[in-house]
Amino acid sequence: MRKLIAGNWKMNGLASSLAEIAVLKGATGMATCEIVVCPPFTLIEKSSQQLKDSNITIGAQDCHPQTSGAYTGDVSAEMLADAGARYVILGHSERRVSHHEADALVASKVVAAHKAGLTAIVCVGETRGERDDGRALHVVGTQLRGSVPAGSSSSNMAIAYEPVWAIGTGLVPTIEQIEEIHSSIRKALEERLGEDGRNVRILYGGSVKAANAAEIFAVANVDGALVGGASLTAADFAGIISAVGQVG
Ligand code: PGA
Repeated sequence: MRKLIAGNWKMNGLASSLAEIAVLKGATGMATCEIVVCPPFTLIEKSSQQLKDSNITIGAQDCHPQTSGAYTGDVSAEMLADAGARYVILGHSERRVSHHEADALVASKVVAAHKAGLTAIVCVGETRGERDDGRALHVVGTQLRGSVPAGSSSSNMAIAYEPVWAIGTGLVPTIEQIEEIHSSIRKALEERLGEDGRNVRILYGGSVKAANAAEIFAVANVDGALVGGASLTAADFAGIISAVGQVG
């Protein structure tokens, strides 16, 4: 399966940051995987113009479940597609926590993304406390069931396993822990989607850097990465992309 490397810029990036995308365009290893950059809403249109005719695509970091209407401050999936986005990250833990997004809301956003022709990157992951209580598998399984709506398939959805305690902390689960969760996600996807569940890409996210990427990419059922901090500079992000080449 071709790996998917997605960069989540979060609330970072001004027009001047588009220079990083220009550098990335020229980086090596691009052909070996699919690359998505998810800048803030304000840069979607400009960055997608800039990446026309390249193999880097643009994604967004959230969308509203409705197509249009009286929702001050929100952006619909249709608007994102219109601005040039092809992907959207949904259910990121930072939104689950600070915007109180529950699984049902995430699922309704995924439906909206699909209607607009976007591929959803659906995030799941346990907190430190949940892992310490031995509930990681259960929490991830519940989030997955609740956040993946009918109509999802390998062509319109990827899953990102992002343990909350690994995001932006420099902490990374052990290879065994990643393998355990990813294989449980694969099993759940196969139960849910049949054969096609095998083709859904399952990304790992949480403190991925060039130095640990190759080891993580070699784990069974790790089909790419969702990268936060290390996606902000082309040099760091390109280091992660070239790690894909090391594992084939
Ligand atoms: P990080 O963030 O790579 O900075 O840990 C990952 C994410 O939140 O998607």
